[in-house]
Amino acid sequence: MIGDKKVLFSGMQATGNLTLGNYLGALKNWVSLSDEYECFYSVVDMHSITVRQDPAELRRRARSLLTLYIAAGLDPEKNCIYYQSHVSSHAELAWILNCFTYMGELNRMTQFKDKSAKHADNINAGLFTYPVLMAADILLYQADVVPVGIDQMQHLELTRDIAQRFNAIYGDVFTIPEAYIGKVGAKIMSLQDPSKKMSKSDENPNASIYLMDDADTIRRKCKRAVTDSEGVILYREEQPGIRNLLDIYCACSGKTSEEAVKEFDGCGYGQLKEAVGEAVVGVLAPLQNRVKELEKDKAYIDSVIKNNAEKAQYVSTKTLRKVQKKIGFPERPRQ
Ligand code: TRP
Repeated sequence: MIGDKKVLFSGMQATGNLTLGNYLGALKNWVSLSDEYECFYSVVDMHSITVRQDPAELRRRARSLLTLYIAAGLDPEKNCIYYQSHVSSHAELAWILNCFTYMGELNRMTQFKDKSAKHADNINAGLFTYPVLMAADILLYQADVVPVGIDQMQHLELTRDIAQRFNAIYGDVFTIPEAYIGKVGAKIMSLQDPSKKMSKSDENPNASIYLMDDADTIRRKCKRAVTDSEGVILYREEQPGIRNLLDIYCACSGKTSEEAVKEFDGCGYGQLKEAVGEAVVGVLAPLQNRVKELEKDKAYIDSVIKNNAEKAQYVSTKTLRKVQKKIGFPERPRQ
């Protein structure tokens, strides 16, 4: 708890371009959480270097992700939005937690197996201990809840195990975090294969709408979306492509699926796709304009980066000092 609020922590990698799915499924809903929770959203650049990055590109993407969060409506006065690499406690606690994590546990992580298959020429130790750094991120802020996708559940489970193991030895040091299950956003599927989630790492650029795609690109991608040969617009499992288009339409327009089906009664797929394209443009164009406005205000973004890193450092250092004391590191002489 911070004050009378529970703590929420989440981290995002600045690799890959965020998609409409990330926005409608997560980001958009986070805006409303800051009243209920004390929120920390870290741009986890230290996690990103577990695979080789181009330095200039990493820096650029990290800044644009941070800007995007603000543009999406996360108020940086109420939400601590910061770079992981600016807060030294992350690396310090990660080292300590490494000594409380077993090789066998890390060996079982499916993301490690997938990533080492994908980057066979660079299976570095950081890739292996990545989940421990993630545990440090979460535990430093005594997070009660962590909104994560299904792909990160195994890492969150490990975080809980590490925290419980530590607490069993040293007393109640860490809050045991839970997965955040609140109002979930729309689940947006690939435009090219509606059985798969829309993903920022999809190799087919037509499968995903990126948040910074221009209006014509968005319209074109919607037009090319895979549908079926049924010829009717109904919201049902047998028509996953149409259902996905309706989901996108509803998430962008605030309408229910019943309302949308009624609206498109008797229309062809072409008309539906056109309407979806316009609805998406209607949501993303203002977001993109806000990003462009914010990018011009370098001093403002810089001040957000600085102030929030200081806040994160302050909160996280409290936990770190407690941990260091518990495990027997020498006391720091008072200044
Ligand atoms: N591993 C997460 C991902 O790739 C990012 C992440 C790092 C994270 N630290 C975190 C997510 C802490 C939630 C909490 O998506």
